[in-house]
Amino acid sequence: MPQNLLEIDSLTLKMDNKTILDNLTLDIWKDHTHAIMGINGAGKSTLANTIMGLNGYQEFAGEIRFQGKSLKGLSVDERARLGITLSWQEPARFEGLKVRDFIRSSARDKSDDAIQTVLKTVGINPDRYLDRAVDRTLSGGERKKVELASILAMKPRLALLDEPDSGIDIESIERIFNVVRLLREEGTTVVFITHSMAVLEQAEHAFLLCHGRLVDQGNVKKISRYFEGECMPCDIRDPEKKEKAI
Ligand SMILES: Nc1ncnc2c1ncn2[C@@H]1O[C@H](COP(=O)(O)OP(=O)(O)O)[C@@H](O)[C@H]1O
Ligand SMILES: [Mg+2]
Repeated sequence: MPQNLLEIDSLTLKMDNKTILDNLTLDIWKDHTHAIMGINGAGKSTLANTIMGLNGYQEFAGEIRFQGKSLKGLSVDERARLGITLSWQEPARFEGLKVRDFIRSSARDKSDDAIQTVLKTVGINPDRYLDRAVDRTLSGGERKKVELASILAMKPRLALLDEPDSGIDIESIERIFNVVRLLREEGTTVVFITHSMAVLEQAEHAFLLCHGRLVDQGNVKKISRYFEGECMPCDIRDPEKKEKAI
C-alpha cells in the first residue's frame, strides 16, 4: 500500500451557509501524481485553499492530516514550513517584487545560478525576466511559469497545482508537464486541480468531485469516462436545481 502524505477525513466546509465541501474523505499518496477533477464550481479550488489554510478557509468540520499530524489551526506560513505549497488558479501578483527575489524568498539554493536554472527550466529567459516585477506587467501565463519555477526551487513535499494549464499557450504545456515530472523525480508529491483531460492524463490516480462530494476515484482511464459523457454517469445532482425541479 502507498504511504499517505495527506489525509482528508470527513471534511465539510460551509461558506455563507452553503455547503461547498461535503463530507470529503480522500488520501494523497506520497510520491504519486494525483488529479482532482470536476466541472467548474465542483469545489476543487476550495479544497486546495482549505488544505493550504488560506484566510476564510480555516473553519471546517472533519480533519486534514499531513504526515499524520492535524493541520487544524496552523497558518499558511506554518503549513508552508511543513512543505505544502499551492500554485493558485489565478497566479498571484506582488507589486514591486522582482522575479529574482520572489524565487529566492522560498528557494532552498538561493544562488543566482540556481535561480537562473529554474527559470530556464520553465522556459523563461532569466536575462529578460530576473529584474521584472511579479505584477500585472507579466501575463497570467508568465506569472504561472514564474510560480512553477519558484516551486522547483522550493522543492516542497506537496505541491497543489490549481489549473496549471490555464493561461499557458499550447506550445508551453508539454514543457510545464515536463517540469512537473522533474518535480516528482525530486521528491515532490503532486496534486493537479483540473477540469482538463490533458492534465488528467498526466496523473497516476484521480478523484472526481461534484458539488463538493467525492463521486469516484481510481485510475485516469476510469475517471476520464465521466468527462467523455459530460458527467452523465454521475448521479449527484445540484441540490438547488433538484429542489426547483420538484
Ligand atoms: N467565498 C465564497 N463564498 C461563497 N461561495 C463560494 C465562495 N468561494 C467559492 N464559492 C462557491 O463554491 C463552489 C465551489 O467553488 P470552487 O471551489 O471555486 O470550484 P472549482 O474550483 O471546482 O471551479 C462554487 O459554487 C462557488 O460559487
Ligand atoms: Mg477552481
